[in-house]
Amino acid sequence: MNNFTFYNPVKILFGKGQISAIAQEIPAGSRVMMTYGGGSIKKNGVYEQVMEALKGFEVLEFSGIEPNPHYETLMQAVDIAKRQNIDFFLAVGGGSVIDGTKFIVAAMEYEGEEPWDILAKHERITKAAPFGAVLTLPATGSEMNSGAVINRVATKEKFSFGSPVTFPKFSVLDPETTFTLPVRQISNGVVDAFSHVLEQYLTYPVNAPLQDRMAEAVLLTLKEEGPKAVKNPDDYDTMANFMWAATMALNGVIRVGVPTDWATHYIGHELTALHGIDHARTLAIVFPSLMRYKIGAKKEKLLQYGERVWGVDSGTEDERLEATIQATIAFFESLGVKTKLSDYEVGEDTIETIVQRFEERGVKDLGERSDIQIQDVEQILKLSL
Ligand code: NZQ
Ligand code: ZN
Repeated sequence: MNNFTFYNPVKILFGKGQISAIAQEIPAGSRVMMTYGGGSIKKNGVYEQVMEALKGFEVLEFSGIEPNPHYETLMQAVDIAKRQNIDFFLAVGGGSVIDGTKFIVAAMEYEGEEPWDILAKHERITKAAPFGAVLTLPATGSEMNSGAVINRVATKEKFSFGSPVTFPKFSVLDPETTFTLPVRQISNGVVDAFSHVLEQYLTYPVNAPLQDRMAEAVLLTLKEEGPKAVKNPDDYDTMANFMWAATMALNGVIRVGVPTDWATHYIGHELTALHGIDHARTLAIVFPSLMRYKIGAKKEKLLQYGERVWGVDSGTEDERLEATIQATIAFFESLGVKTKLSDYEVGEDTIETIVQRFEERGVKDLGERSDIQIQDVEQILKLSL
């Protein structure tokens, strides 16, 4: 097992009715900016519950944070929050609203010239305003991690950042808030969470059986609960299990002491930046091809994953590897998530654009062995055509 440091200070308030508990988590007398998206929270009672819980605080609303949150919009929030002396933020929504709020709280305290540098130049963040979250979409794990992914519309760029100071102070996970999710967002959530586990598990063995089994537990739970969630989004127990599995997929627990990949996410972000394809769908496009391209380097973990998650236990090694990749593709497709670039009307010209962008950016050494170079990215994407 590799050395590791583990730190996760997020307080989780899980279950029905927990939104009412947020008042005790926010310092008395705070001036709160409540951030949200395009209005889904006004159709499912979440907005009313939050407003009721925030009685007694000065509350300013900032709505309109887009899916794949826009830097341009978030900077407006920073401007207003500074003028209004906001000292606590509450993100209410999915990964985009929570990520967007992480960027806002970092930008609030940023002393450099242009907050975009937090993303583009990985400027180190040492201070951020405090914030909490009310999650309405199980998928990203943003509710219990310190990372965020932000889009800049003007340049069609999508970059991530993270810092120990951008963990939420608390997150409410009430499965009832997810009952209004459209099927597309549920299937996206299952695929995103599943991919998060694969990024931290499908690498090479380092004799870490506990991490392996915890990762497999999350994969098996998503395999079982995901299809149920798509069919019955208003079943409390199903959504509770899906919600906690998605959080556990990316809160740092399964990552400790093991190598991680993240090349699929890095490549996938370009497809969202260039074509607006939903984040999870970009992963469903890239992951199967990356598995195939790296079949040799990932062989041991692929065989273990195939056997323990998909019951692939017979045939030659090559047959088992192929059956495992096919089982993964079939799972994504069964959720209605397409896995080829052509399904999204994306062709070779986009691959060329990505290669060019990576060259300009000097991208190199992706993957758990730092052995995925730009020409490999090109080949991986070509397998997805
Ligand atoms: O904007 P509203 O009106 O709220 O509607 C949203 C949005 O249109 C809707 N929605 C959310 N909760 C709902 C609901 N509709 C009905 N009922 C509800 N309860 O769903 C749509 C998509 O929301 P979004 O927040 O964009 O989805 P998701 O949670 O999948 O987040 C995706 C973003 O997170 C980033 C992605 O790159 C992408 O930008 N990620 C963040 C990560 C992190 N912070 O750790 C890791 C991930 O790998 C990912 O990259
Ligand atoms: Zn993801």
